[in-house]
Amino acid sequence: MHCTRKISDDLLWVGANDRRLAMFEGVYSVPKGVSYNSYLLSDEKTVLFDTVDKAVRERFLENLSYGLGNRDLDYLVVQHMEPDHSAALMDLIIRYPNMTIVCNSRTQAFITQFHGIDVESRAIIVKEGDTLNTGKHDLLFHMAPMVHWPEVMVTYDKTDKILFSADAFGSFGALNGALFADEVDFDRDYLDEARRYYANIVGKYGTQTKALLDKASALEIEMICPLHGFVWRNNLERMFSIYELWSRYEPEDKGVLIAYASVYGNTENAAELLACRLREQGIKTVMFDVSVTAASEIVAAAFKWSHLAIASTTYNAGIFVTMEAFLNDLVSHNIQNRTVAIIENGSWAAASGGLIREIFEKCKNIAFVRDILSIKSSLTNSQLEEIDSLAAALVATL
Ligand code: FEO
Repeated sequence: MHCTRKISDDLLWVGANDRRLAMFEGVYSVPKGVSYNSYLLSDEKTVLFDTVDKAVRERFLENLSYGLGNRDLDYLVVQHMEPDHSAALMDLIIRYPNMTIVCNSRTQAFITQFHGIDVESRAIIVKEGDTLNTGKHDLLFHMAPMVHWPEVMVTYDKTDKILFSADAFGSFGALNGALFADEVDFDRDYLDEARRYYANIVGKYGTQTKALLDKASALEIEMICPLHGFVWRNNLERMFSIYELWSRYEPEDKGVLIAYASVYGNTENAAELLACRLREQGIKTVMFDVSVTAASEIVAAAFKWSHLAIASTTYNAGIFVTMEAFLNDLVSHNIQNRTVAIIENGSWAAASGGLIREIFEKCKNIAFVRDILSIKSSLTNSQLEEIDSLAAALVATL
């Protein structure tokens, strides 16, 4: 049975939720599920903004058919060709043979790459600033390359002041009956998922996200309709301001994220002691064992916190394998503007600290506090002072 949500007199959510997917893109766990949003505008012409993932294709087609009633589908606006939003494109071409595809030239090429067809004869190719009138509504297209793929574009409905924002402002998490962010306790239940989505999916492309924010700032926006997660109709400034921070790699909060890799518990012990000394001085801390928590979750947390304390044993003359994987993931997501402290452990030839430092030296605007604190197998009593001084050095910068 169709399951849709009305957004306005003209606009209907016709997407679907997936709560069975274990790993989004094969790498990000989605314990709260994920929504694939698709929006149907019913004007003098009917316009669909994107489709959905193949896992929820059946429900989507049912929703779309309900939304259209007896009408034909006139336009499909393809804002993003990633298959979680375009898997039903061929279904629509078959079901609605009169449908015109509205996309840019990069998208056109991707349609051919993914589906083996040339849509030129049924496409309107748009570029930055082009508009499409559908009756009462005027749609304005802005290119948003690399937020998150090169073909991405967003659409501004000038009439209803709605930004269809593609991957921007999206979040992991199924909608569970809610559609609008103000229908849930977003900060309590979904902000972490929105950050995890941003950091991992779009986080590498902060410059491009900032460029999109700058374009959006010139528009009068009353609603944001992303491709995943909730629709924003209230408190839009909140999302814009947090996206500003994320896109500039500025932390949201002051505190120390402690990530450690420990084989026999001694490196963990140093990390715990550091956390205690920081908490005693009123500093917020979060801790992750990189062998237990998925790198993507720690990457997201690193986008939140101002300071990073990295503690790793030496392994095969290098950084412990799970720590190295996390750090490579973090650096590939372009982390910047952080203060970093390093603890290494090595029973006979400690090497992890210097290698961790080399990884962070690839990032922009990283400040290191104190020298690398080096442990030989386990902390000695005399080294407790070094933990104290490392905590003091961190506190001094907070
Ligand atoms: Fe959900 Fe980049 O797509």
